[in-house]
Amino acid sequence: MALLSVLVWLVSAAMDLVVPQVLQRVIDEGIVAGDRSRLVGLSLLAAALIVLRGAALFGARFCQRWYQAGISRQLRNEVYDKLQRLPYAYYDRVDSGDVITLAISDTRTVQGFTGYGVMEAVRTVGIYVVIVTGMVIASAQLTLMALIVLALMVAVATVYGRVVRPMWLAYRSQQAQLTRVLTENLNGIRVVKAFATEEREIEAFGAESELMRERALAPIRLRARAMPLMLLLTGIGSLVVIWAGGLLAIEGSISIGVLLAFYYYFTRLIQPSRRLGFIVQQVARTAVSADRVFGLLDEPVGIESPPGAVKQTRVKGRVDYEGVDIAFNRRRVVSSVSAKIATSDVIGIVGPTGSGKTSLLNLIPRYYDAAGGSVRVDGQDVRSFDLQSLRSAVSIVPQDPFLFSDTVRNNIAYGNPDASLDDVIAAAKDAQAYEFILGMPEGFETVIGERGVGLSGGQRQRLTIARALLRESAILILDDATSSVDTETERRIQDALRRRAGGRTTFIVSQRISSVEHADEILVVDDGCVADRGAHAELLSRPGFYRDLYDLQVRQAEEARADLAAAEAADA
Ligand SMILES: Nc1ncnc2c1ncn2[C@@H]1O[C@H](COP(=O)(O)OP(=O)(O)OP(=O)(O)O)[C@@H](O)[C@H]1O
Ligand SMILES: [Mg+2]
Repeated sequence: MALLSVLVWLVSAAMDLVVPQVLQRVIDEGIVAGDRSRLVGLSLLAAALIVLRGAALFGARFCQRWYQAGISRQLRNEVYDKLQRLPYAYYDRVDSGDVITLAISDTRTVQGFTGYGVMEAVRTVGIYVVIVTGMVIASAQLTLMALIVLALMVAVATVYGRVVRPMWLAYRSQQAQLTRVLTENLNGIRVVKAFATEEREIEAFGAESELMRERALAPIRLRARAMPLMLLLTGIGSLVVIWAGGLLAIEGSISIGVLLAFYYYFTRLIQPSRRLGFIVQQVARTAVSADRVFGLLDEPVGIESPPGAVKQTRVKGRVDYEGVDIAFNRRRVVSSVSAKIATSDVIGIVGPTGSGKTSLLNLIPRYYDAAGGSVRVDGQDVRSFDLQSLRSAVSIVPQDPFLFSDTVRNNIAYGNPDASLDDVIAAAKDAQAYEFILGMPEGFETVIGERGVGLSGGQRQRLTIARALLRESAILILDDATSSVDTETERRIQDALRRRAGGRTTFIVSQRISSVEHADEILVVDDGCVADRGAHAELLSRPGFYRDLYDLQVRQAEEARADLAAAEAADA
């Protein structure tokens, strides 16, 4: 299509070259020579050529639009594709407003240019070449003069482009800032209301919005100033051509027809010269967006399957940590942790907040890579796994449950869309979510999330647990997944887990003794190290974080119960 468009356009350019020459002969051989039949014949020829030129131009535009639509789809999809593949670390670093601006506005600018802009640029350059050729054929002397005027125009356009580029850059970054403020506000709207800071937020947004207006206006103002200068230059140019050409014609060194042809050529240059300013501006704008879009496309994915990794369907679920260090931005948060976890073990992990529990578990599905040491699944370094196989071997219930705005059923079946309704129901039952789902207006077909019915924190957690259970993977990670669920419901979930477990390695992170006391082994993580490990009874037998936690949670509860019983006995 692109090729066809160029071909059709070449036809129209050829017409630009030929038409003035026919006009020249209309004048010299028809009018000046007084030949009526030649006048009519040549005029008709010129008219036919002009119609042909119009048709060719239309054809070129059509092909180019078609081509552009294809390019935009491709670019959009490539950007989205990349966004899906980039690792956690990328999303830690960027803010969502920036990414949204990039994925929507910047791709639009780039694709707008690759379609319309490139064609227009090529066309403009082409027109210059064709017409200057025509001018030289008509009169070399006059061409020289016209070119001086032209050079001035190009100079103005270049300076303009240099000044306008930073303006576009500022505008783009302000656009990203505005999107960021908006998305952040929407995500945090409940906090805004809780602290009654609506007015302050409105003011802050207003200020950003005003800045955006100013930055959008800057390039427009500049253009308004550059435009009259361009017009002045073209006006003077025309006069110069008529004056100098007139002198040559009076001298008799060129004919009237040649002068007319030359003038026609010159006027055909005026439009592209003005457009040059527009194109320079567009190039500047596109360069800014292209930097951002191609910057994203070139962003290293970092965490991906190594070449030649084989797909694995039978992962057993043995996990070994060996001298593992974890660092974020060179800040060490976990140091030389080693642990061997046998297939189908249930491992409890407790420890103060910020001690590194989540970070340690995030290494198993390779959300992040260790800074030192290695994590092995079934004896094989996770970094040598086929990423897809590794991730489907791990089901994770993250600390902050996320649900899509979709039906309950689709949310639970997110990891395996082909699951039958019976399987979905079984997972919901085991996650102790069945009862409350049935109580919802449309049961499993109820739409939840942003647009749907609101759910309580514990309900959200149970839906994400059901989602993980349905996956039936070799390794299950519950990262504080029952923190908002009452102890009785949690016990029932744990019973169901044990029934389901069947050879599955399970990690349970929790702040509650009751969640981990039945685990085969409990790791106490403190300040990025494994401070202690052992079964429940063993850990209770020695002083430390675990016994303190137990004292706090269990003994106090028991004492409270005992006090209550004593009080009741006294009453009786
Ligand atoms: N993406 C990240 N970027 C930078 N630092 C991080 C990141 N994730 C965690 N950290 C830091 O690493 C340390 C351990 O965090 P981690 O989330 O592993 O703790 P945790 O034990 O899971 O805590 P909690 O019980 O509160 O969930 C913290 O100091 C935290 O600030
Ligand atoms: Mg955590």
